[in-house]
Amino acid sequence: MSKENLKETYSEIALNNELIKLNTELEINSPYFFGYNILGKLTFKLNDYKFDKLFLITDPTVYNLYGRELLNQLKANFHCDPIIVSEGEVYKNISTLNTLCEDIVRKGVSKDSILLALGGGVVGNIVGLAAALIYRGIRFVELPTTTLAQTDSTLSNKQAINSPTGKNHFGVCHAPIFIWADVKLLLSESPRRIKSGLVESVKNGLIADPQFLNYLEGKLNNGTMYAENDLKELILKSIQSKINILKKDSTEKKYGIILEYGHTFGHAIEKLSQGLLTHGEAIAIGMTIAAETSHRLGYLNYNGVKRHHYFLNEKMDLDLKLPFNIRVDDIIRVIKSDNKRSSKGVKYVLLEDIGKVLNSDGDYMVSVDNKIARDILEEFTID
Ligand SMILES: NC(=O)c1ccc[n+]([C@@H]2O[C@H](COP(=O)([O-])OP(=O)(O)OC[C@H]3O[C@@H](n4cnc5c(N)ncnc54)[C@H](O)[C@@H]3O)[C@@H](O)[C@H]2O)c1
Repeated sequence: MSKENLKETYSEIALNNELIKLNTELEINSPYFFGYNILGKLTFKLNDYKFDKLFLITDPTVYNLYGRELLNQLKANFHCDPIIVSEGEVYKNISTLNTLCEDIVRKGVSKDSILLALGGGVVGNIVGLAAALIYRGIRFVELPTTTLAQTDSTLSNKQAINSPTGKNHFGVCHAPIFIWADVKLLLSESPRRIKSGLVESVKNGLIADPQFLNYLEGKLNNGTMYAENDLKELILKSIQSKINILKKDSTEKKYGIILEYGHTFGHAIEKLSQGLLTHGEAIAIGMTIAAETSHRLGYLNYNGVKRHHYFLNEKMDLDLKLPFNIRVDDIIRVIKSDNKRSSKGVKYVLLEDIGKVLNSDGDYMVSVDNKIARDILEEFTID
C-alpha cells in the first residue's frame, strides 16, 4: 500500500475501502489505521519497522477465522511464531498472563521483537500487559477484531487483568506502536457481540455528544445484522466520538474519567455475572443505574433516565434488570474495591443532563450514600 493512500483525517473516502489514519489523542498517542479488508495489508505496514521476530497472539476462535491465514502471510515475509491463549473474560487473569509471558520468552523473544495482538478486548489487554512486562517493555501492535475493541478498548493505553479481588485490578499503561483495525472482520461477530460493543458508543453520546446520540438513533437496531456500509460508518463515527473526548484529556484521568460512566456499577455486575453478561451488557445496566442515581440525587431530569431506557432497551433490546443470581449486597461489596477508589472512597460519574457530566467537585465524580445506592440497586432486581 502506498503512503499516498493514507488519509490523515476522517472523510467520506474512508468508507470506500481506503485506509485512513486517525490519532488516539492519548498521552502516548499511537497512529490508528482504519479500513475495510486491510488485514492482509498489514505486512506492508510492518515493513516500516525494524524487528527480529514477530509473535502473533490470538484466541482459538479468532485463529480459526483469521489468524491462520494472517500467520501464513506473515511467515512468507518475516520470522513469526503463533501463540494461542485461552478464550474469554474468565481467562483474563494472572495465570494466562504468566503462561503467555513464559511462552514468549521460551520462544526466544528479544528487546527487538514485536507482539501482535489479534482479537477482542481480552486478547488486547493481556498482550498489552505482557508487552509492558517482558524485559520491562517491548513493542506491540493491536489488531482489534471486535466492535468493542475497535471502538473502545484500543483507544486507551490501559492494559489490565482481572483477579478474584476485582475487575482490571492489576495493570499498567502501555501504548501499542500502532492500531490496525479492519472493519470487515466484524462481519463474523454475532449480533449480540456487535450490540454489546455499541453500548460504549451510546455511552459516548450520553456523556458528551447529544448530536452523535441523534445519529445513533437513526442507525441502531435491536439485534439484526448491520449492512456492510452502515457498520463501517457506525464504527468510524464511534471511534471519532471517543477520540473527541480524549482530545480534551489525553490522560483519561481528569475530564476523560467521564468515559467511566456506568462502569462502577457495570464492572461489579460484569464480575458477579461470571461470564453470563458481556462487558457491554453489564455497562448498559450500570449506566441505567447511574442515570437513576443522578435523577434520585436531583441532578438529571426524568426524561434523561427515559432516554437511557429508550436507547438501551427499546432500540437495542438489552435487558436492564440485574441477572437473577446477582445480589445487591454482593454488588455493594465489589464496588468497595473498585479500581477508581481514592482516599475519599468510591465516587461515581453521574449526569446532570444528556451530554453533560456532573462536575460539582471538580473531578467529574460524585460520592453517593450507600443506602441510596442500595435502594436503587434493589429496584433493578427481578421481582
Ligand atoms: N483497556 C480498556 O480501556 C478497555 C475498555 C473497554 C473494555 N475493555 C476490556 O475488553 C474486554 C471485552 O472485550 P470484547 O468485548 O472484545 O470481548 P472478547 O475479547 O472476550 O471477545 C469476545 C468473543 O468474540 C470472539 N471474537 C473476537 N473477534 C471475533 C470476530 N471478528 N468474529 C467472531 N468472533 C470473534 C472471541 O474469540 C471471544 O470469544 C473486557 O475484558 C473489558 O474489560 C478494556
